[in-house]
Amino acid sequence: MIRLGINVDHIATVRQARRAEVPDPVEVALLAEKAGADGITVHLREDRRHIQERDVELLRQRLRTKLNLEMAVTPAMVLFAEKLRPNDACFVPEKREELTTEGGLDVAAHRRKIRDAVRHLQGAGIRVSLFVDPEQVQIEASYEAGAHAVEIHTGMYCNAVGDERDKQLEAVVAAAKLAQSMGLEVHGGHGLNYENVLPVAEIPAIVELNIGHSIVARAVIVGIERAVREMKGLLNKAVGAQHAAPLPDKP
Ligand code: PXP
Repeated sequence: MIRLGINVDHIATVRQARRAEVPDPVEVALLAEKAGADGITVHLREDRRHIQERDVELLRQRLRTKLNLEMAVTPAMVLFAEKLRPNDACFVPEKREELTTEGGLDVAAHRRKIRDAVRHLQGAGIRVSLFVDPEQVQIEASYEAGAHAVEIHTGMYCNAVGDERDKQLEAVVAAAKLAQSMGLEVHGGHGLNYENVLPVAEIPAIVELNIGHSIVARAVIVGIERAVREMKGLLNKAVGAQHAAPLPDKP
């Protein structure tokens, strides 16, 4: 059965919007595990816009499934991961201005740097995956880099419509097949939601999907009524509330 990794970055996005303590991505990760998540994914970005180092350290201590740390290929992050020892690490490209990860890692253009970083972390017992576009050259370069897995970037498929979507799905299928034939474990992720996930989940070579934004967005929708009811119930208990006059009808 396919594994579901839940990316809780955007729980931290909401927290950081107020520099508050809630919502706590660690608490949400534990609830996600209870609901059947097979792993938790976080991206510790250089700009620390959402997940913070402390979150990752707490997740490392408290998760029962596995921690997948997404990270840029930088000496500082490699050192951090080496110390933290997540179960898995996924190298992703990172640009400061981007809204989210845009495009896969260009493994073919940075072979040596990536191979060295992969060796370093895998030598420390961390399984490394490389987040790549569904292209033959990137899959082959990932194999040569010695990675345990590739995470195929599904964003182009998710953003496409009509015939273009079918074409993009074909590219994901072909890349997944090629990667599997080379002995790489095959993951997928980015942009997947309740409407577009099934064709990707049905690709036989894919054993893991990492999904974040759509699940966090859905959690807000399915949770808002209860959250409002709880606050309303509390206000109804406030002393004096029973004297409050009802709002006058609009003329
Ligand atoms: N996989 C990778 C490598 C990512 O960078 C991201 C986004 O952080 C995801 C999966 C999850 O993407 P989404 O939030 O669109 O589900």
